Amino acid sequence: MDYKSYIAEKLSAFGVPTEEIVSAIAVPPEKNMGDYALPCFKFAKTMRKSPVMIANELCEQFVCDEVISKVEAVNGYLNFRVNREGLVKESLSKILAEGENYGRGNIGEGKTVCIDYSSINVAKPFHIGHLSTTVIGGALYRIFEFLGYNTVGINHLGDYGTQFGKLIYAYKNWGKKEDIEEGGIKELNRLYVRYHAESENNPAMDDEARRYFKLIEQGDEECNKLFNWFKDITLKEVDKIYTELDIKFDSYAGESFYNDKMQPVIDELTEKGILKESEGAKIVDLEEYNMPPCLILRSDGASLYATRDLAAALYRKATYDFDKCLYVVAYQQNLHFKQIFKVLELMGKDWAKDMVHVAYGMVSLLDENGNQVAMSTRHGTVVLLEDVLKKCHEKCLAVIESKNPDLEDKENIAKMVGTGAVIFGALSNSKIKDIAFSYEKILNFDGETGPYVQYTAARIKSVLRKGGEPSNYTVKDVNEDEYQLIAALSNFPEVVKSSAERLEPFFITRYAIEVASLFNKFYFNCKIIGEEQNTESFRLDICKATLTVITNSLKLLGIKVPERM
Ligand code: ARG
Repeated sequence: MDYKSYIAEKLSAFGVPTEEIVSAIAVPPEKNMGDYALPCFKFAKTMRKSPVMIANELCEQFVCDEVISKVEAVNGYLNFRVNREGLVKESLSKILAEGENYGRGNIGEGKTVCIDYSSINVAKPFHIGHLSTTVIGGALYRIFEFLGYNTVGINHLGDYGTQFGKLIYAYKNWGKKEDIEEGGIKELNRLYVRYHAESENNPAMDDEARRYFKLIEQGDEECNKLFNWFKDITLKEVDKIYTELDIKFDSYAGESFYNDKMQPVIDELTEKGILKESEGAKIVDLEEYNMPPCLILRSDGASLYATRDLAAALYRKATYDFDKCLYVVAYQQNLHFKQIFKVLELMGKDWAKDMVHVAYGMVSLLDENGNQVAMSTRHGTVVLLEDVLKKCHEKCLAVIESKNPDLEDKENIAKMVGTGAVIFGALSNSKIKDIAFSYEKILNFDGETGPYVQYTAARIKSVLRKGGEPSNYTVKDVNEDEYQLIAALSNFPEVVKSSAERLEPFFITRYAIEVASLFNKFYFNCKIIGEEQNTESFRLDICKATLTVITNSLKLLGIKVPERM
């Protein structure tokens, strides 16, 4: 039931426009003020009456029914109370009937969203800095899909640049095939770090590296074979993490994919008179827009990160005809995307307005003593995501060993909970905030964490195992705990929609916490099994519906629900 529309519809009979009412109605912060409130201040001007008068008059005219059970005018507000039995009955039957499809929508039907996320760099460690883009992008992918959009997940691989020439140099001089097969990305990165250390005293190495890179570009067989091998090793390794985090891509078209697609962009920029010469380089001047110029070609003719992103944008529009193209990339690249979007606009692409940089904050890691762990790719001191996940698995297993040592399948459950904790932790704040990750915080079973929500779900499963199938019941005398929980459950579809609109997976984590705590309150205050039959059955259905909503919420985030914990 869409209560806002229902109320608006009824009020429109008295001359207040429906849309204005829908947008003005809010859920009051104090429960005793009713379930919905309409502030009448907005209408004072058009209706030429004081808000208090408007509220009083509307209150007199409004006839309560089986949906809205009470209306009151208080200081220019119109407060409504919904018929709780009605809401409860309707919500429960809807949730239980729709099950895993509860919350699904069709607002995206016929629309395509491209999501560029994770976008890792070949031969570089997959570290904790990649966590946010990966899990935010993954969540947005699932959320949009749930709402009926055609979603295209793109891993815009960083697989172009002189660093690959350096890597070939290092491999040819110091590398061993077996070591790389054995050590994977770590070994490749070790070679890369060694290259940097040695080239400091030997600048001639850089000429060699550049030569190798040129060879890759020119299609040299040996160099391309090595390069593709490095790429395969990288992808195979990160794929394990992607599987664990439930991350999927529809395309791995990375930077090098655009090697032959940049010339048309340069031609078009030239034709439209946007490309300027500056100290031998080609640029798009953006001074008018208070931005430094966007560099398109270096003076040696080499293309840049931006050039490839322009080619990629045109390619994506031509290939997918997207309605929206999202880039889930850290806020450090704010300027880069502002420049790209502006250049597209200057090229006359009216779809430039559909490009969105989904910026997010920095992630740092705190050690057991609360000190920040230092990280630097150059020096090889990064915290690998793989290690963070492993540590969480171990810590969860230790908790299970101490609290519930007889639990069946504990290794798997520890994995599920540890991974869930990491994902949930990364999505626990508005995405733009910097986060300091601490194991203690994300694994706290009593905090606002993944394990807390998973534990609540496992608790419900245990109640349902004991309770069996509910029999028929009538809904009557719904108490406050039951009502608040069910009212929250009925909000799920709205929460999904607004998280898509605002590109905030955090709306879902916050909501999951709210549902879990309302459930726990209900669970402690209301006896379920052993109550008289009507109540027991009703409450078992509340449990089922709650489990459905928690499961669906966590699924959107890429988190599984264990059977037991
Ligand atoms: N590989 C880049 C990095 O690590 C991120 C790429 C983001 N996507 C894009 N289309 N620019 O910084």
